Amino acid sequence: MTAKLRLVMADSDATRRLRVGARLDKYRLVRRLGEGGFAVVFQAHDSIEDRSVALKLPDLSSEAVAQSFDDVQREVRIMAGLTHPNVLPLKDARYIDGQFVMVFPLGDESLNDRLSRRLARSTAVHYIRQMTAAVAHAHENRVLHRDIKPENFILFPDNRICLTDFGLARNQSRRHQISASGTLGYIAPEQAMGKPTYRSDVFSLGLIVYRMLSGVLPEYPFEIPLPSYARFKKGLHQDFVDWTRKALDPTPAKRFRDGVAMHNALERIRQIIIDKPATSKSKRPTVRRAA
Ligand SMILES: Nc1ncnc2c1ncn2[C@@H]1O[C@H](COP(=O)(O)OP(=O)(O)OP(=O)(O)O)[C@@H](O)[C@H]1O
Ligand SMILES: [Mg+2]
Repeated sequence: MTAKLRLVMADSDATRRLRVGARLDKYRLVRRLGEGGFAVVFQAHDSIEDRSVALKLPDLSSEAVAQSFDDVQREVRIMAGLTHPNVLPLKDARYIDGQFVMVFPLGDESLNDRLSRRLARSTAVHYIRQMTAAVAHAHENRVLHRDIKPENFILFPDNRICLTDFGLARNQSRRHQISASGTLGYIAPEQAMGKPTYRSDVFSLGLIVYRMLSGVLPEYPFEIPLPSYARFKKGLHQDFVDWTRKALDPTPAKRFRDGVAMHNALERIRQIIIDKPATSKSKRPTVRRAA
């Protein structure tokens, strides 16, 4: 009875602390940006540096959604070990008044938010290059992300995009218990069966690429023809179409081995968007050859 009471009080304490306007040391919570299974993310104002940041506040208080401190510590250490222009940098992680706080630069919105508005193909391709580089960097450092989805890519000014939320990530240098964690919708078939590998992250990224360029998210069992295939292909070079399809192969062994192989293959593609066929109104200067 006493234990239960204490738990309830701890919960209401936490709720009071995590409201807009509340203070956590030098940070003032300004706006709720989003939440996942185990954490809530706020825009906050850093009163010392006088700038905005994003604070990720994992919920370690309620037993119902108990994410152990070990999980949060793993997430923090994995992120601290990655340094790449397209991986969200962790600025700080510590307890403030009993609340665990992860501090990140504040982005504009998630890729998922962005996808509700029209996206030019050239911008989509610019994002895809960066997203692939981010996954390659994680894999190069033996980190399996396991939750590659549009909500976990954050946009910054100048069309920069960063991968975040390593809450389900695992370090591949150790053997891990089989787990079916991940987000349905972007999860590879073998990951859904509890066997995630680097190839599963490749598949999830392939699904995002396909959704960005076709407007549709293919569903299990990902059979050919994929939905809106004509719209996906439009204006894209065949090499890039093949690259996406290879990432999306339902058979893991037929995909890119990991993000690094996927990234290298993308770098080798000379042209992704096919130039529009020249018309008489083309603005390009035409060179006339003497007959
Ligand atoms: N740095 C940031 N700038 C702007 N918005 C952010 C930032 N980080 C996260 N967000 C928003 O908050 C949402 C949740 O963030 P994140 O994915 O890191 O946590 P989570 O899903 O709650 O984590 P978990 O899956 O571990 O519970 C994102 O989808 C995004 O909309
Ligand atoms: Mg998330």
